[in-house]
Amino acid sequence: MVIAPSVLSADLTRLADQVAQVTEGGADWLHVDVMDGRFVPNLTFGTKMIAALRGLTDVPLDVHLMVVQPEHYIEPFADAGATVFTFHPEATVHVQRHLDAARQRGMRAGLALNPATPLAHAEEAFDDLDLLLIMTVNPGFAGQQYLPGATAKIARAHRLRLERNPAVRLEVDGGISRETIVAARRAGADTFVAGSAVFCAGDPAAAVRELRRMCLPVV
Ligand code: DX5
Ligand code: ZN
Repeated sequence: MVIAPSVLSADLTRLADQVAQVTEGGADWLHVDVMDGRFVPNLTFGTKMIAALRGLTDVPLDVHLMVVQPEHYIEPFADAGATVFTFHPEATVHVQRHLDAARQRGMRAGLALNPATPLAHAEEAFDDLDLLLIMTVNPGFAGQQYLPGATAKIARAHRLRLERNPAVRLEVDGGISRETIVAARRAGADTFVAGSAVFCAGDPAAAVRELRRMCLPVV
């Protein structure tokens, strides 16, 4: 399983320290939320943040694009050192082409689905996917509550990937905490994004270890 702290909730005045804390706690990936103020009502990071993080750590950078026309960022993000390139099919037209292009540039390719977006939006793309991200909140902000209906959707997504391509990672994002991670894990998720649960904790390294510990009894 993968724990991916989201730098959206990090204290950016001491980014290097915060990255060091979570990697010391065993963070497997770092999650980078890119928002454009159009697909979601918030603005965050771009290429420079990805390059800065790449300079601070060797852990995979799990970039989540909440932007319209994410295809414009395949080249610059690959050059900046992104590892996973995940975008929303709701935000573009030629989904398969963009998944393929991200892979051609040496990244892993992911699709993210909003809570009300049916799994069918990812179904035909399964052969071109490395990761499926089920949003467990409506994207745009950290610190929201995990939507209870998300657990059943994770379970359906898990069945779909077993059928279509078991190598695809199943990621969850939004409201993941020590209270909610077990339900998501039991439903079949293997990759967990956590923003506030990690960076708003007194000890981010301990928070990462705790999230992992909460998942371990369920295999
Ligand atoms: C939400 C972002 C998330 C966010 C999660 O739109 O995609 O990655 O950082 O933050 P928490 O874990 O606080 O819900
Ligand atoms: Zn995210």
